[in-house]
Amino acid sequence: MMNILIVDDEEMQRTMLQGFLEKQGYRIFTAADGARALRVFMEQPIELVLLDHRMPDMNGDELMEKIKEISPTVRAIMITAYGAVDTAVRVMRLGADDFLEKPVDLEALLDKIRRIEDEVLVAGDVEEVQEIIASEDLPVRLVGSSRPIQDLLSVIQRAAPTPWTVLVRGETGTGKELVARLVHLLSPRKNGPFIELNCAAVPENLFESELFGHEKGAFTGADRRRRGVFELADGGTLFLDETGELPQAMQAKLLRALQENTITRVGSEQPVPVDVRIVAATNRDLKEMVEKNMFREDLYYRLNVIEIEIPPLRQRKEDIPELIEFFLRKYNSRSRFDNQALAQLTKYNFPGNVRELEHIIQRTITLARSSVITVRDLPPEIRNFRGRSGGSSNLAERLTEVEREMILDSLEEHNWIQTRAAEALGISERVLRYRMDKLGIKNQGRK
Ligand SMILES: Nc1ncnc2c1ncn2[C@@H]1O[C@H](COP(=O)(O)OP(=O)(O)OP(=O)(O)O)[C@@H](O)[C@H]1O
Ligand SMILES: [Mg+2]
Repeated sequence: MMNILIVDDEEMQRTMLQGFLEKQGYRIFTAADGARALRVFMEQPIELVLLDHRMPDMNGDELMEKIKEISPTVRAIMITAYGAVDTAVRVMRLGADDFLEKPVDLEALLDKIRRIEDEVLVAGDVEEVQEIIASEDLPVRLVGSSRPIQDLLSVIQRAAPTPWTVLVRGETGTGKELVARLVHLLSPRKNGPFIELNCAAVPENLFESELFGHEKGAFTGADRRRRGVFELADGGTLFLDETGELPQAMQAKLLRALQENTITRVGSEQPVPVDVRIVAATNRDLKEMVEKNMFREDLYYRLNVIEIEIPPLRQRKEDIPELIEFFLRKYNSRSRFDNQALAQLTKYNFPGNVRELEHIIQRTITLARSSVITVRDLPPEIRNFRGRSGGSSNLAERLTEVEREMILDSLEEHNWIQTRAAEALGISERVLRYRMDKLGIKNQGRK
């Protein structure tokens, strides 16, 4: 349960909130003004601040800024006067996670607190996975620090140690195979084999033998006994890629193998026990395939014990700069992208997701004549890409996009001199830095 600091100059309000939240199990600290709030904040492990926007000594904006300066990761909910939407928007920009109007609706408050609590837990999981990845020097890296990637890492962290089947869903190039490998490497089976079978690449008549193996003489051409992927993956993880392409007849056989933990080689009657953890991946909508009777419902539920969905790159554009740096390092390139090139790359929608981005980087650094890559060096589909960035229909996402665009444009326009950019945007330099940090915008000042 979180430690919450309530800052309000009205004693009634403080006591009421304190009583309510303590009954929910939270540990509550209170302060009657900004100065006292700061003192409590420095002395106690506060995770969430509930602050009244209007206070006698310093207003909520100021307190918010000071608190964020001391601890950028602390969470905050601002309580504003009824109908003060402009105030609300401003405090969100200052880094409040949410706001509530007076009089405070306690159920709504609890909802918001629970949501924030959930985010804090996710952040904890993410830290843990990152530590394991770093300490064990795992051969795969899942780059990105956007909220969707944090959620993804958190799910992986919780799913990996279990024996359950995992279904990884995502568009082409989003990193499904990468996630499958990570699930394996973070599981107790990490020292066992990781075997992959791409269901789209197997001819229908060879499927059964690929999965379960065959005995010598089982069919024409079977000149010796061969083990299938189930046996090869024994004690480890079997990655079934493009599971949606599995022929109907095979779906039944796979289901049986999963239910009984045994397989039967083609040309044999003898069941062989196997100990395999399945990670399946698909870029098709299996649920819809089930509805159209193209995929067995029972197999779908068997595979989908834990579902991991990887969002497309266009929904987490804040990861693009980090990914670019990662790929530049991966290909030992000393090139860098100038700001306009970066901005143009961030506008693009990447139908081929991370793989497409990787290819673009490879191709660009190979062909560019200078080590500073400009818009002119980008492939035409990106160089000529117009259209509003992202264009998400989700309000929060769209606002983030617009904010990113405005900040980037202003920084560009002012040669990345933050004082000027901040002034043009009508915010303080400190707030600009805070927002840049939050949006993953790195200082690209020209050297
Ligand atoms: N978050 C990420 N961090 C670093 N590299 C990534 C990330 N996501 C994807 N990649 C890289 O992008 C490429 C494509 O990833 P991967 O093969 O896992 O995608 P996929 O979803 O399996 O694609 P497909 O549907 O086409 O099979 C790989 O080189 C992978 O290492
Ligand atoms: Mg793949």
